[in-house]
Amino acid sequence: MISAEPVSARLIEGLKRLEYRGYDSAGIATLEAGRIQRRRAPGKIAALEKLHKRKPLAGQTGIGHTRWATHGGPTKANAHPHATKNVAIVHNGIIENHRALREELAACGAHFESETDSEVIAHLITAELEADPVPARAFAAAIARLEGAFAIVAMIAEAPGLLLVARQGSPLAIALKGDEAFVGSDAIALEGLADQIIYLEDGDVGLVEPGHAQILDRDGALVSRSEQPLFCQGSVSKAGHAHYMLKEILEQPATTERTIAQYIDDKGNKIQMPDLDGVDIGADRAIIIGCGTAHYAGRIGEYWLEGIAGIAVETDIASEFHYRKAPNPTGGFGIFVSQSGETADTLAALKHAQGQGLKSLAIVNVPESTIWRTADARLPTQAGPEIGVASTKAFTAQLCALACLTVAAARKRKRLSSQEETRLVTALKEMPARLSEAISASSDLDAIAEDLATTRSVLFLGRGPYYPLALEAALKFKEITYIHAEAYAAGELKHGPIALIDKDMRIVVIAPHDQLFEKTLSNMQEVAARGGRIILISDAAGCAAAKDVAHHSIALPACDPFTAPIVYAAPAQMLAYLTACSLGVDVDQPRNLAKSVTVE
Ligand code: G6P
Repeated sequence: MISAEPVSARLIEGLKRLEYRGYDSAGIATLEAGRIQRRRAPGKIAALEKLHKRKPLAGQTGIGHTRWATHGGPTKANAHPHATKNVAIVHNGIIENHRALREELAACGAHFESETDSEVIAHLITAELEADPVPARAFAAAIARLEGAFAIVAMIAEAPGLLLVARQGSPLAIALKGDEAFVGSDAIALEGLADQIIYLEDGDVGLVEPGHAQILDRDGALVSRSEQPLFCQGSVSKAGHAHYMLKEILEQPATTERTIAQYIDDKGNKIQMPDLDGVDIGADRAIIIGCGTAHYAGRIGEYWLEGIAGIAVETDIASEFHYRKAPNPTGGFGIFVSQSGETADTLAALKHAQGQGLKSLAIVNVPESTIWRTADARLPTQAGPEIGVASTKAFTAQLCALACLTVAAARKRKRLSSQEETRLVTALKEMPARLSEAISASSDLDAIAEDLATTRSVLFLGRGPYYPLALEAALKFKEITYIHAEAYAAGELKHGPIALIDKDMRIVVIAPHDQLFEKTLSNMQEVAARGGRIILISDAAGCAAAKDVAHHSIALPACDPFTAPIVYAAPAQMLAYLTACSLGVDVDQPRNLAKSVTVE
C-alpha cells in the first residue's frame, strides 16, 4: 500500500479480510525514514494487531501478509514480510528452486533467518540491486530466476512510494485511487479502498507508484491490463450468531433459492442456462473436477448427470486429474467446481484441460476470481461471501447449479419430456422450503453431538448420491471436530471397514427411504449385530423401518428424490457444527486449514 498517510492500520484491516487464506502467522513492514521496519507475530491477525498497538509502525509505504505455512512452521521468524537490510517482500505460492538459490546466495554471504522458501526472494533482489541499482530492472532480473508459483510484492528501502509486483500462478491485483496505490492477493482485500481493480496476468511484472502502475508481460513488453469495477462482496458479519458457520448453515434456504432462481425462466417451469460460449452440454461425456467439498459436490452431480441426462461422467480431485495423464473425453466438456475460484490445484487442472482442447464450464461462487475468468463459460452460485472455513452454503449452492445444469443437459439430449422437466423444476423450487425444515428437523441433535464428541472415530455410510454426501459429511466432521471420520459406500462396508465396528464406534447412515433403502438397512443390521451404534438420517418411513437398529434417528421431511441430497446435507453439517462446539473447537478457523489454498 502507498499513501500520503501512514498505512499500517489499513494494512492490518486488509489482512483481516484475507484471513481466510491462512492464519498461522501474520506481519507487516513499512518504510520509516528510509529503513525497513517490521512487526510479525505467530498466530492469528489479532496477535499482530495487539503487537502493533504496543509498538506501532509509521510509514507511508508498506506491505503485509497472513500466512498458511508450507515451508517452515508458524513461527515469528517464518512469518512474512521477509527482509534484508534494503528489501522486504511478501509472497504467496511456492518457489520450487529455493534450495539451489539459497545455497548460491548463502555462498555469497547472504544470511538467512527463516526456513521458508520465500526468503530467497528478498536476498535475490538485494543481490540483483548490487548488480543494477535500478529497482524495476533488478526486480525483473530476480523474478526471472524464480521457478514455481508466486504472487510477490516487494518494497525497497531507498525507494519510498514504490512497490514492485509479480504474478505467476497465484492471484494478484492492483487498485489505484487518487495519489494512493494498493496491491492485494485478491479483490476482497481491496474492498473499500478503491472502486476499480486491475488483475495481473501470469508472467506480469509491475511497478506501482502513487496513482500509477506500469506492467510488463512475460516478454518484457509494456502492456495495459484493463481496469474493472471492483466487485464488492459486501460487509460480512455473524448477524448475531455464535459462528459464521452456523449463520451460513441457516442461510442455505435463501442461498439455494437465489442460486436456482437465476437458472429458471420467467414462466417458472423451465431451466434456462446463460450463454455457455461454445461449451456443448449436450455432449455424451463430461469430467467434473474440484477439491475438497467442491469435489464432493461434483461427485453428487455425477449421479445426476449420468442418471438423468445420460452423460458418461468422470469425476476427479483436481490435483490427481492434473497429473494422471487421463485422455480428455473426445467431444465432451469439463466442469470445474470451486467456491473461491482461486484454488491452485483446480486452476492448474482447468488450464491443463483447456491446453488439451477441452471446453470448460466453471461453477464458481466468487465473481471475477481467476477460475471464473479462465473458464470458457461460468455458472455462478449465489452463496454470497462464505467466511467459515468449513464450506456449507457454497456446497449446497454448487449442488443447485449442478442440478440445474443436469436438467438443461437432459433436455438438450432429449432425455426429458416437458412434463418431466416441470416435475424436476418444481422439485428444485420446493427444495429450499424442505431444506429449511431439515435444518430444524431434530431437537435431539445436541444430545447426539454430545455423544459423538466422546468418540475417537466416526464412520459415515451412504449409497447412490448419499455416498458422496457421506464423504462430504465425514470431511465436515473431521475438519472441525478433529475426530477421525471416514466415509464408505454402504455396500462396501463388508469388504473391510466392518472390521472397525465395535461398541465404541459411531456410524452415521444417510439414507432416505428410497429404492436402495432395504439394502442399506441390511448394512445397518450388519453393524448393529457387531455392537456399532447407528445414527440414522432418513425420512419418517426410513426411521420407522430402522427403529430396531438405529440408536438415534433424525427424521427429515419427505422430499423429491432429485433434490433430497441437497436437503440431507443440512443435518450432516449441523452434527459436525454442534459436535465441534461441544468440544470447544474454533469452528470458523479450525487448526491447520485455510479456506482458499493457492498453492499446489
Ligand atoms: C480448501 C477448503 C475447503 C474447500 C477446498 C476447495 O481445502 O478448506 O473447504 O472445499 O479448499 O476450495 P474451493 O474454493 O476451490 O471450493
